[in-house]
Parts: sequence; structure tokens; C-alpha cells
Amino acid sequence: MEIIKVVNPQMGGKKAFELFKASIESGAKTIGLATGSTPISFYEEVVHSDIDLTDVTSVNLDEYVGLSRENKQSYAYFMNEQLFKYKKLKASFLPNGLASNIDEEISRYNDILTCHPIDFQILGIGSNGHIGFNEPGTSFESTTQLVKLAPSTIEANARFFGTIDEVPTEAISMGIANIMAAKRIVLLAYGESKAEAIYNTVHGSVTEQVPASILQRHPNVTIIVDESAGKLI
Ligand code: GLP
Repeated sequence: MEIIKVVNPQMGGKKAFELFKASIESGAKTIGLATGSTPISFYEEVVHSDIDLTDVTSVNLDEYVGLSRENKQSYAYFMNEQLFKYKKLKASFLPNGLASNIDEEISRYNDILTCHPIDFQILGIGSNGHIGFNEPGTSFESTTQLVKLAPSTIEANARFFGTIDEVPTEAISMGIANIMAAKRIVLLAYGESKAEAIYNTVHGSVTEQVPASILQRHPNVTIIVDESAGKLI
């Protein structure tokens, strides 16, 4: 794993953008995208650049079950606000959180991932080590699935909602095997609340109890951290 320490999220966004640009310039055609507060500075760099993504397809990691694309807390809304309304892509896919048949939606999403193998994947990390919405205990063999959010994740994400009761308890998330299939992975983490998860990811044993620890087995991972998230590594 390559570790890059930066002074703040702005610099992290710039560094991640450099790596992203290099991948696009060397022919990346499908990008895996993440939500949450962490990748925002990266999306700002993309938006303010002149990079051409019209031949690039995106697939997002996850979406809450029960939220429509118009709901401001949905990841579809987030992606539109952070990136899609500014940059034209060839196509963009997210799981549909309102699908009436979840099993069909899951198989549709796995098919999308088969047709569009990810060249470059951006990841954040939960303070419990989750990637996408793959909570501790998720099988390393998992593909897209319906997941129940851990109480700590619901609590952490409540800051985006009016009250904790409004946070959905389920999501559709790409699985660990889908993420590991990406050719190149760049994981971003900022702030003290991520320090332990980053330590476990980089130096801990590879265990399903820390989903991100599987990244130790991926041949092309870069982890970008600020001082606080990287203080234990
Ligand atoms: C959510 C997302 C993850 C993200 C995590 C951390 O749970 N599903 O993809 O990495 O939040 O969010 P933040 O970057 O806001 O700390």
C-alpha cells in the first residue's frame, strides 16, 4: 500500500485528483465513485479542472434504501450536486434505493459492474472500517447486496439528517469483491475519528471485522490521509 500524508482535505483532494487524472490519461474508462464528506474536496478539483469525462462511465458504491433521487440525503442527489451537474460523463450508475424488487435491483447492479469493470475507485472509510456500506462482518466474497447499517454508522451519518430516526437503516452496496476487482483504488481519510480504522487497515490483521483491511491484498492501493487520520501509522 502506498501511503500519502497531506496537510488537509484540500491537499488530499488535489493529490487524489492528480492520481485520477493520470488514470484517465492512461485510458481509464470506468470510475468507481464514493459519497460522504471525505471525497468532496476531490470532486471540487474534478469540477474545477478541464478534464474531459465525456467518454467515462461512473458507478457509485452505494445508496440508501427508501430515499428517492430527489431526496437531499440520497447519494444520487449528492452526486448530482458534487459532480454530475457540472461535468458531463458518458453514463452514471447508482443503485436505485426505491426499487420495488430489491433482488432484481441487486442483480441489475452486479450486471452493470460486470459490463463496466472499474479502472479507478475512490473510497472513503467509516470509523468502524467500513468501505461502501460493507459493515464489519461482511464477507470478503460479497458482491452487491442489501445491507443493514451498523448502529455506529447510523449515528455517524445522522449529522446529514434532521434527526437520527430519519436515517435509513438499510442500503444497497457494492460488495467487497466488487471493490477489490477495481484495477486501482485510492482511499481517502481525514480527521481523528478515522485514525483507528486507518491503523487497522494498514497494520492490522486482514479480517472481515475490519472490511478495509482486505485492501492489504490489493496490488494497487494508495491511501491519502491528513495528519489526524494518519497519526497512528
Ligand atoms: C458512508 C458511505 C461511505 C463513506 C462513509 C464515511 O457510510 N457509505 O462510502 O466512506 O460514509 O463518510 P464521511 O466521508 O462523511 O466520513
